[in-house]
Amino acid sequence: MLHKLTVKELAAHDGEKVSLDGWVYNKRSSGKVRFLILRDGSGYLQCVAFVRDVPPEVFDLMDRVTLESSVTVEGTVRIDQRAPGGVELSLSGLVLHHMAEEYPIGKKEHGTGFLMENRHLWLRSSRQVAILRVRSEIEQAFRDYFYQSGFTLIDSPILTPAACEGTTTLFQTDYFGEKAYLSQSGQLYLEPACMALGKVYCFGPTFRAEKSKTRRHLMEFWMLEPEVAFAGLDDVMALSEDFLVSVVSRILDRCPEEMKILERDTSKLEKVQKPFPRVQYKDAVRQLHELGSDLKYGDDFGGDDETILTQQYDRPIMVHRYPAAVKAFYMEPDPEDPSLALCVDVLAPEGYGEIVGGSERIHDHDLLLSRIREHGLPVEAFQWYLDIRRYGTVKHGGFGIGLERTVAWLCGLNHVRETIPYPRMLYRLYP
Ligand code: 4AD
Repeated sequence: MLHKLTVKELAAHDGEKVSLDGWVYNKRSSGKVRFLILRDGSGYLQCVAFVRDVPPEVFDLMDRVTLESSVTVEGTVRIDQRAPGGVELSLSGLVLHHMAEEYPIGKKEHGTGFLMENRHLWLRSSRQVAILRVRSEIEQAFRDYFYQSGFTLIDSPILTPAACEGTTTLFQTDYFGEKAYLSQSGQLYLEPACMALGKVYCFGPTFRAEKSKTRRHLMEFWMLEPEVAFAGLDDVMALSEDFLVSVVSRILDRCPEEMKILERDTSKLEKVQKPFPRVQYKDAVRQLHELGSDLKYGDDFGGDDETILTQQYDRPIMVHRYPAAVKAFYMEPDPEDPSLALCVDVLAPEGYGEIVGGSERIHDHDLLLSRIREHGLPVEAFQWYLDIRRYGTVKHGGFGIGLERTVAWLCGLNHVRETIPYPRMLYRLYP
């Protein structure tokens, strides 16, 4: 039995005879030599066969084998800096597992609709593989940062009886005769947990029935949310800043190959260093007016406002103290001007816009109760949430970061649809 390896492992096996499993990514021929590019998920490998070195049936199979057929190749590893990836296989054997039908996704350009319809196959292309690998590394960086900072992971429920982020974007379902909603955020469940454990976070899928088709919105997206007892707005801002710097530097460190495939200008990401500018909402509005926006003071930023504002900066900016009227019911008012909320949105540079939303939470029972009523929310469904303000209440706060928007920014993609394996978008549930 030959030593079975993956492409990624080959570099340490120069001169050895090995075998690899994978799919035919590409092939070409010239005279008496055949080239087959194998992909196995870990990388791409050029396999070379000369007519004199392989049995005739192998040479013939190299001519017949179709793209995306599944195969096992055998051969001798050769370190060769001229080969793509610096290593090549002198092929001696080829076993066919399945001859693929004509692959619908070719090397030519395809429209987005076609690619989305064939997302299950599109995943195999080199750009998509690179994006999914970066996504996986970002998820691990998210988890590691909070694990190493002493946070406890709290899994919040997906089926919930109440809204966290407004009632207009709820996905409703029936829960044995009761109304239930898919979670928009784990935050409300983290607040009680931080009173038990101090520093907590959750990370999972969240759902918003956003009736808008934009390059930043998904119906189902993954959000990581930390929540910290005794933390105010400044602590929340410092935490999100430190966290983002750590995630970006880890991706630069661990994903250089993927960044190359994606043609990402990483010099832009290298500028993501502390401190991030902290800009009050009212100053951001003034700046936007100077840049030609007609945003009214008091309105939340639209996607275009975020784009033009963040194009002015080389690192994320923290816009804080938005008018309370455009923000969620649970945000603590600014003691210096109660019309403002102690909240922050972190906007990514290069036009990527909001990736983080956070705030200090209302810790006073009666104020929270009046906000729940003002927002027309059912008080009964929030009794448990109000309870937290009855037993040793303290100021506390946290934020939520959207995974897909982070992936889009770090990979340099202009739409979130490629940042998640199976995007759920307006009117698209297939595959
Ligand atoms: O600003 P949001 O709505 O904040 C919350 O949900 C808070 N409860 C979080 C907290 O304080 N614990 O959402 C947070 C982030 C946004 O900045 C964005 O990155 C992402 O979640 N996000 C979306 N991503 C993709 N598609 C959507 N429809 C998104 N909505 C929000």
